[in-house]
Amino acid sequence: MADTRYLLQITDCHLMSEPGQPFRGLNTDSTLQAVVADALAQGIEFDHLLLSGDLVHHGGTDAYRRLLDILAPLPGERHWIPGNHDEPAAMRAASDLPLGRECVACGDWRLLLLDSTANPDGRGSGSLADDQLDWLEQALAVHARHPLLILLHHNPLPTDSLWQDQIMLGNAAEFARIVAAHPQVRAILCGHLHQHQALRLGDIPVWSAPASSIQFKPGQADFLIEDDPLDSRPGYCIYRLDAEGRISVQVRRVNA
Ligand SMILES: [Fe+2]
Repeated sequence: MADTRYLLQITDCHLMSEPGQPFRGLNTDSTLQAVVADALAQGIEFDHLLLSGDLVHHGGTDAYRRLLDILAPLPGERHWIPGNHDEPAAMRAASDLPLGRECVACGDWRLLLLDSTANPDGRGSGSLADDQLDWLEQALAVHARHPLLILLHHNPLPTDSLWQDQIMLGNAAEFARIVAAHPQVRAILCGHLHQHQALRLGDIPVWSAPASSIQFKPGQADFLIEDDPLDSRPGYCIYRLDAEGRISVQVRRVNA
């Protein structure tokens, strides 16, 4: 169908400064390459590629350039937002892509991309700065007649993991207050959790994509890497947006 749009979300790639350097025992260049190969094999002409933060582990312009090189075979307009591990200055040096506060037209849909890395606590949390909240509120008012999707790095809802709930979006209540007043918001997408979660903020689905690197085990008091043979696989999400304002998600896992 001509008006159907496809988005590809890849998140938490955690590329190291040197190719092949392990991140918690995993070659994250290889797992990202496996994600790219699987996404290409779907044969979908993606409209947009959403990169939702923690794209490299310790920053470094070369690592961002390597990331973009690995992603180069994929179709779709590129967009990226920073996560708590990212280095905005290095991202700017590697590419002139905008960094948050981006409104993307996608057919009748509008995609709002936010930077949630303000006021970090040094352990992984992040918040939406006041200017991001103001911009979000204005964008929601301007695009009141369009079905709308919001992308940010940090999960705006708790899950059932104490350690992860402590580093979720810092000003989630303020974010929820703004979003709740705008029924055209059809979905909220995030990364950060290194696991797939399907949550709800009121009537709005909140989906976190699995990382293209390691997965964290849900429902834990403390940090624990996923050991389930299926859920520990790297993954990504494909979203299908239709002209009636409906959105569906497909979570894919890869063997790597
Ligand atoms: Fe991450």
